[in-house]
Amino acid sequence: MQHESANRMAEIAPFHVMKLLARARALEVQGRSIVHMEIGEPDFETPQPIIQAGIKALERGLTHYTPALGLPALRQAIADFYDSRYQQQVTSGSVVITPGSSGALQLICGVLINPGDEVLLTDPGYPCNRHFVQLMGGQPKFISLSEAANYQLSLDDIKQNWTDKTRAIILATPSNPTGTVLEISFLKDVAAFAKTKNAYVIVDEIYQGLVYDVESQTMAGRFDNVFVINSFSKYFCMTGWRIGWLIAPEAFVEDIDKLAQNIFLAASTPGQHAALAAFHDESIELLESNRKAFQQRRDYLYSEIVSMGFQLQEKPQGAFYLYANAASLANNSDELAHGLLENAGVAITPGKDFGYIGAQTHVRFAYTTSIEKLIMGVDRMRAYLG
Ligand SMILES: Cc1ncc(COP(=O)(O)O)c(C=O)c1O
Repeated sequence: MQHESANRMAEIAPFHVMKLLARARALEVQGRSIVHMEIGEPDFETPQPIIQAGIKALERGLTHYTPALGLPALRQAIADFYDSRYQQQVTSGSVVITPGSSGALQLICGVLINPGDEVLLTDPGYPCNRHFVQLMGGQPKFISLSEAANYQLSLDDIKQNWTDKTRAIILATPSNPTGTVLEISFLKDVAAFAKTKNAYVIVDEIYQGLVYDVESQTMAGRFDNVFVINSFSKYFCMTGWRIGWLIAPEAFVEDIDKLAQNIFLAASTPGQHAALAAFHDESIELLESNRKAFQQRRDYLYSEIVSMGFQLQEKPQGAFYLYANAASLANNSDELAHGLLENAGVAITPGKDFGYIGAQTHVRFAYTTSIEKLIMGVDRMRAYLG
């Protein structure tokens, strides 16, 4: 018998960085020291109050399914968080708990996209978005972001790419891989424009809270054609717990409930109980000190790589990434990333994981390792690049 996957699998690209990470791990097994700047998750532990709340939930036997839309107490805690931190009114009925924001994207694409619908995405951007769209039979359409404009886009860029088939646009702020923060006034303009077209804006706020020189903001609670997705993965340091959320226009909640019941039943129950402690003062205090450490790392790594010849228009204001142009150092960023790994013991991500335009000349540095390790990585890169 010949085993063949469905045709759609030809359209799904792997994360190239996983191959690089596997090679880095193999080198470590051989005894090589590797500085990891390729990993897109915080190196910090989940704060203890969250871990303790998870342990307590397990000890109390809270291991059964929750409702598909999530634990009511967590939906309410998230709604309260928007009120206290952002002064935005969000009803708990519009909050849906999901297995990471990946689960949220899957649900939103499931309820919104008809076969043939176009969804606008940015290039560069988070690589999985196009796959979520394609799995639902939608057509991803890329808006090229300009490096010279520091990866900001304009309403005109959106209008130029808009067609009668456009159903939605997905925008991330802060963004992966560039760390760019979008202005709320711009996002409001996009939502207002999309509304005139009976279309939707999906705002990925997964790096919310991880901003350095600007105020953290949200698009939640402002428009009835906006979906906001978020997660406990990044700011809250809970990647492996697989808990995220979305805020949906209320008209969609019933269908989201139906779809969630079918495709994953519910997010992890102990994880949801643990996440209830994420908003406690003690947790936020720890998370804010992590944020300050990220800021210190960003400032250090940014000035070092720029002085080495990597080019960035500006210091990014959010997430934990630096997306740099390496054209003056190498012809091909993939070869550069592999060369750095093999010869200098430094792992970074080649641009081809994040899109098409400029992918061959760009690399992403993740400052998700200690400042001591970053210093070691910088020394090694300097020696290798001469
Ligand atoms: C922009 C963006 N959106 C969504 C995700 C998915 O994260 P999770 O499913 O852990 O919430 C990631 C993960 O790296 C990301 O960078």
